[in-house]
Amino acid sequence: MSSKKSAHPLSKKYAGYPRLNPLGIGQDISAADLIDTALLAYNGGRLREAAQLLTRKMLPDDGYIGLSLTGALTPAGLGKSCLIPLMRAGFVDWIVSTGANLYHDLHFGLDMHLHSGTPFLNDVELHEEGVIRIYDVLFDYNVLLDTDAFVREVIQGPEFQRTMGTDEFHYLLGKYVAARQKKLGIKDSSVLATAYECGIPIFTSSPGDSSIGMNVAAMALRDSKLMFDVNRDVNQTAGIVYHAKSTGHTSSVFILGGGSPKNFILQTEPQIQEVMGIQEKGHDYFLQCTDARPDTGGLSGATPAEAVSWGKVDPDKLPDSVVCYTDSTIALPLLTAYVTARVKPRKLKRLYDDRDAIFGKVRERYLATGTVAKITTSRKVAKRASSIGLRKK
Ligand SMILES: NC(=O)c1ccc[n+]([C@@H]2O[C@H](COP(=O)([O-])OP(=O)(O)OC[C@H]3O[C@@H](n4cnc5c(N)ncnc54)[C@H](O)[C@@H]3O)[C@@H](O)[C@H]2O)c1
Repeated sequence: MSSKKSAHPLSKKYAGYPRLNPLGIGQDISAADLIDTALLAYNGGRLREAAQLLTRKMLPDDGYIGLSLTGALTPAGLGKSCLIPLMRAGFVDWIVSTGANLYHDLHFGLDMHLHSGTPFLNDVELHEEGVIRIYDVLFDYNVLLDTDAFVREVIQGPEFQRTMGTDEFHYLLGKYVAARQKKLGIKDSSVLATAYECGIPIFTSSPGDSSIGMNVAAMALRDSKLMFDVNRDVNQTAGIVYHAKSTGHTSSVFILGGGSPKNFILQTEPQIQEVMGIQEKGHDYFLQCTDARPDTGGLSGATPAEAVSWGKVDPDKLPDSVVCYTDSTIALPLLTAYVTARVKPRKLKRLYDDRDAIFGKVRERYLATGTVAKITTSRKVAKRASSIGLRKK
């Protein structure tokens, strides 16, 4: 790069911004180098910042990373291509997912075939031919029927005949998928099976809103005793964040899409501060890839700045937040390539194995601190806990 001084320098205040002067893209460029050198502006620039936030701030020092998944990611193959490598490398510590992503993950764990098609087909004809379409992904109707049957068969087992958190449910389900994968002679096909093997807790914020929940509900009409303990999920996820912070680690949220899982992963902080009355500052790092706009007021498009006002994100860390307006099917493979190239695998935290201890710790703290009556000091506590207001002096 030329070191020649500019004849038109920016004013001193902005002089720190580097010159935009990319090299031509060569034949052998790696995905990671492409991101660093050619994604320089607009949402390309945000994607580069996202990759660098992950590698430079979120992953170092064993920081805790919660990943939220919405949109039809596993049907597009992103479970196998991206999520499983990230999980195996210890780059994802806990997950909140839509049930749909976990349901469609089962097809891969059961070695069923999904096809890369086109969105420009006649859906009435597809219906007549028994073909299901998710935009340009196609598969036979029997994929659904056989996956449903697998879920119903598995949850008949004695270990499922009780009320449990969704993390425990997914862990047990993952165990059966892992066993099936072994029988089929395949590996690293399913997010659920990988989470089971790696001790990564997976929660879902709306357990009834997917084909997994639909099969659980149908079995409840028979004699199944399986119920979901959503209170445990709310407290367990808050417990994970409290555990991270109280052991001196950062807590980061990596949000793909938006929807209910976005809130579920973020609400852990207000649960700790506003509801439990425990002094905390908010998540440290916020990274979201989404297509949702902020101006509709919906949570999917809400910015990290708005999240600060709720206590969800630490105000001191707001400048580090990144929102990249792009399709996750473009962003996630690039981010996965980047972090796997730039960061050494981390030791798995296996948070699922410490599930009861993590829950017990936040419960104990809440019972010592929280009240039934209104918590009057929450905002003052939040203000004191952060250095906001001190900075501008
Ligand atoms: N068979 C099933 O089980 C099934 C199938 C589909 C949906 N569902 C259920 O419907 C609910 C909503 O599902 P959803 O998450 O697919 O839809 P959604 O449309 O609610 O998406 C959530 C958010 O993510 C954003 N988003 C979606 N795809 C994206 C992408 N590729 N890139 C960037 N942002 C993206 C959306 O704009 C939105 O803000 C879930 O509870 C799910 O379990 C179930």
